[in-house]
Parts: sequence; C-alpha cells; structure tokens
Amino acid sequence: MDVTEAHRAFRGRSVISAEDFHKEDLLAVLDAARRFDPEGGSHQYEPLLQGRILATLFHEPSTRTRLSFEAAMLRLGGQVLGFAEPHQTSFSKGESLADAIRVVASYCDVIVLRHPMEGAARLASESSEVPVLNGGDGSNQHPTQTLLDLYTIRKSTGRLDGLKVAFMGDLRYGRTVHSLANALLNFDVQLSFVGPESLRLPDVLRQRVEAAGRLGSEVSSVEELDEDIDVLYATRIQKERFPDPLDYERVRSAYRLTRASLDRFGDDLKILHPLPRVDEVAMDVDLHPGAVYFEQARNGVTVRMALLHLILGEGADA
Ligand code: CP
Repeated sequence: MDVTEAHRAFRGRSVISAEDFHKEDLLAVLDAARRFDPEGGSHQYEPLLQGRILATLFHEPSTRTRLSFEAAMLRLGGQVLGFAEPHQTSFSKGESLADAIRVVASYCDVIVLRHPMEGAARLASESSEVPVLNGGDGSNQHPTQTLLDLYTIRKSTGRLDGLKVAFMGDLRYGRTVHSLANALLNFDVQLSFVGPESLRLPDVLRQRVEAAGRLGSEVSSVEELDEDIDVLYATRIQKERFPDPLDYERVRSAYRLTRASLDRFGDDLKILHPLPRVDEVAMDVDLHPGAVYFEQARNGVTVRMALLHLILGEGADA
C-alpha cells in the first residue's frame, strides 16, 4: 500500500480491535511511522495536524497510552483535551457512555477511550461522529499498543516473518497479549505461551492460534521454553481484573525474569513489555542488550503520530 492508499484506507477510521486489521493495514501504519521516528538525528515535525483536536477519555489509569497520544498530537501541531479522572466528570452523575461520547465528539476530531468494560470502544464508536481509538477496553483489546509493539519488533529484529515469539505472564487478562497475538497471525510466526495454569490464554484465541498452525509450546515457566525464541513479550499480572483478590495472591509471584534466567537464550533475544512492570522483570534485565521495553514505550509517540496523521491528516484528502 503506498502513502496515498494508506491515507485513503485510514481516513476517518476508528481503531477498535487488532482483529479488524489486515496485514496490509498493519504494514501501512508501520511504514508511515518511519517518517516520525526521531532516531537518526534531530527531527523537526511539521504542524500536520494544526487545528485538529484530540480528546482523551480515560476511565482507567494510564501513563504511556494517554501521554503518548497527547505528545503525538502536540508534536504534530494539534491540541488536546480530556480527562483521566472520570469521577470529576458527569459520569459520576450517571451519564451514559453513549451520551457522553456523542457530546465529546462534537468538541473534537478524534477520541481515545480507555474503559474497564470489554466492548466499550466499539459501543462508543457507534455513538460518535468522529473516529474512536481504543486505548484499552477491559481484558479485551489494546490495538494501538499492538501497532507500537509490531513497530518495535520489526525495528529491533529487522523482520516480522520467520519469528518465534513467546508471550509470558497474564495471558488470560492481558489485553496487550490478546491484541498482539491476533495481529501476529498475519505473519509467518510461531507463538508460544508461558504462564500459570490459571492465567492461560482464552480458549477462543488459543484455538485461533492452533487452527492457524502457529502454536508453539505452552509451559508454566520460562525455564521450560525452547532456547531458539527470538522475542519474549512479558506482561504483569493484571491485578485489577481479578474478581477474587485471593486468586491474585495465589499467582502474584508465579514468575519473574532475571538477567540470569535469560542467559541461555543468548544476546540476540529481544525482550518486550508493554509496561508498567511490577516485579515480574528484575531491574538487572534492563542491562540485557535485547531489553527494548523503554524503546518500545518511546515508539508509542512515533507510531501514534503516524496513526493520527493517517486518520486525520491532510494526506487523507489525497
Ligand atoms: N502500555 C500501556 O498501556 O501503558 P499505560 O497503562 O501506562 O497506558
């Protein structure tokens, strides 16, 4: 897909689920992001989104998603409004999500929504006159995180096909895992899964991976993983999703990566994590040459600039 086709494909488009993206869509965003990557020299960004307004509506805590979207919009000359404290808005008076979205859509050009309810972003998009970007809906999906994850994998390994990727941690509640695993099925990859029995991948997704012929190993500890993996995608246990706090206590210390535990994989291994980390990745892993999780977080601005520009930018009129 060339640049003009990419702008046509994304113009005014909501981003709800990684499942909605075909391979060409994913590659179009990753290719567009190269333009906004600050690596390799000083970067003067053109005010490509001057006069455009981004609204960030966050019903759950966030550091990276909200601030990187805001940074992306500001770097492109646009403006931002929104909230990170929903109890200080009219939601606390009982306003419905549909009504609030309908109103906010009349104040802005694009909305990023994070919400604890699965399906909230799709529901919001049905009430919105402007594109809605899913910033995470419960345990379901986090598709813009997936775009920056793919960008980081491709940038750090040089490819997306031919990789062995292992997901480690909370595979049950981790929305970044669900989105990224779905997106990776567009490529020639083998997916392995590491985590406690009670936090295994949802059946639907596991069956999808298996039906695609991409299922590698499913193990309980990183020590059981084959040594030839290329990418290890670690996640924290999603404490906030557990209906019973006792269930969280049972698994909270079930796994922990250390520098020593990674030695047998060699220095070419790339280690990603959507962050925040709690204690599942020891600080000494930061010294591993393949630890790219802070670069991954930085790529969030780059990729979200590309996405906002594809959806809203002047090129979209091409
Ligand atoms: N990766 C991610 O979604 O981080 P935040 O929760 O800080 O936005």
